[in-house]
Amino acid sequence: MAMKITVIGLGYLGATHAVAMAKVGHQVIGIEPNQQKIDSLVQGKAGFFEPGLDEELAKQIAAGRIEFKLSHDESSREADVHFICVGTPQTPGSMAADTRYLESAIRDVAPYLRSDALVVGKSTVPVGTAVKLTAQLAQATGFDQPNLAWNPEFLREGTALEDSLNPDRLVIGVTNERSEELLRKVFAPMIDAGVPFLVTDLATAELVKAAANAFLATKISFINAMAEIAEVSGADASQLAKAIGYDERIGNKFLRNGVGFGGGCLPKDIRALMARAEELGVGESVAYLHEIDKINLRRRDRVIQLLKAELGNLSGKRVLILGAAFKPDSDDVRDSPALAIALLAKGEGADVVVHDPVALHGVALKHPELHLEQDLAKAFIDADALVLATEWKEYRELDPTSVSVRNKFIIDGRNVLDVAKWQQAGFRVSALGRTITN
Ligand code: UGA
Repeated sequence: MAMKITVIGLGYLGATHAVAMAKVGHQVIGIEPNQQKIDSLVQGKAGFFEPGLDEELAKQIAAGRIEFKLSHDESSREADVHFICVGTPQTPGSMAADTRYLESAIRDVAPYLRSDALVVGKSTVPVGTAVKLTAQLAQATGFDQPNLAWNPEFLREGTALEDSLNPDRLVIGVTNERSEELLRKVFAPMIDAGVPFLVTDLATAELVKAAANAFLATKISFINAMAEIAEVSGADASQLAKAIGYDERIGNKFLRNGVGFGGGCLPKDIRALMARAEELGVGESVAYLHEIDKINLRRRDRVIQLLKAELGNLSGKRVLILGAAFKPDSDDVRDSPALAIALLAKGEGADVVVHDPVALHGVALKHPELHLEQDLAKAFIDADALVLATEWKEYRELDPTSVSVRNKFIIDGRNVLDVAKWQQAGFRVSALGRTITN
């Protein structure tokens, strides 16, 4: 049954959720205070690179199931459910999450909230946030017990729409039956399709998300820690990952060693979890996440070591970084390992060139000091070293015989290249987590 829904905040999370809700048949109003984003959205462009999203957005606009507004108006009062999808970035100078956008979302929706309607937070938050927001909502609306629920989102960039439509599980944290009933209606198509639906309290739902991302970050840093040992002992971390991954209790996913994790979620979420645990007096419980963070950041330094091992002093040496996005199929450069390596090499005096199939626009704004090159053939010219930092398909499928550089040396930062093929083409190859004889 179609419901009226608002989706507040139309970034990666909100835009995808709005489209997914429209696609399953609901009537969606997207609220976004940024005029530029609205201008783009109404033309069927989400404003960021996400495979399949713009096409589906255009379809839903044409079908009349989705519209966009700068702020709430009387039509928001007709909505049964209001999803809050605003960002919770890391607070500058602290590890904690900044929840100010959630507070303003609550302030903005309150005048338009019916007493039987439901506010649902989807943003990743420190455990305990939902209770505070409920109190804020009660004060703003005058309702004794406003309906506020938490429904964390587990989508991955690059497969965002598919993840939203076919999630591994749905988790809802609620305080009353009415909220559960409304959310069962919202997600009926997924529930009917057999997606596990877990109903919890607010704190558990909030913590599920932080825990999932902390676990994923831990898995990646675990294999990268093994990579550090492999590098000094002659072992091969990729083979090690494959071997331990056959044990179903361990599993082979998220065990790819390389330059490590980045993006707008994993790095900030582990830091926010540490900050919140400290506040709650149990900082020791997740103190190990400091090491997870440090292992991750050390992988970036390792690439610089490998560059120096080949080139000596990097000053004036042309280094081409293949990739700027934090992962392929995304133009997101937040906390990107590729970009961090580019900046480290630049700091060592290298003449750094960065290529990425889609993400350079975001880099140009933030790092005008970097030399960006959209044309891959041009980017190769005069390179003394190549660093594969984001495993885009076009890099994985490169024909090394057609790569024309000054010095044939490549670092495989994601362990995705066919080393023998590159060596046959005359390249010396280095990689993370294993020693390659050239
Ligand atoms: C992550 C989670 O995977 C999602 O479940 C979650 O919903 C999302 O954060 C979020 O909190 O919103 P995402 O940031 O899109 O999703 O990216 P991931 O696919 O998790 O990759 C994160 C980073 O880890 C990337 O830089 C990737 O290259 C790296 N990675 C991943 C590895 O280095 N090794 C691996 O084996 C896997």
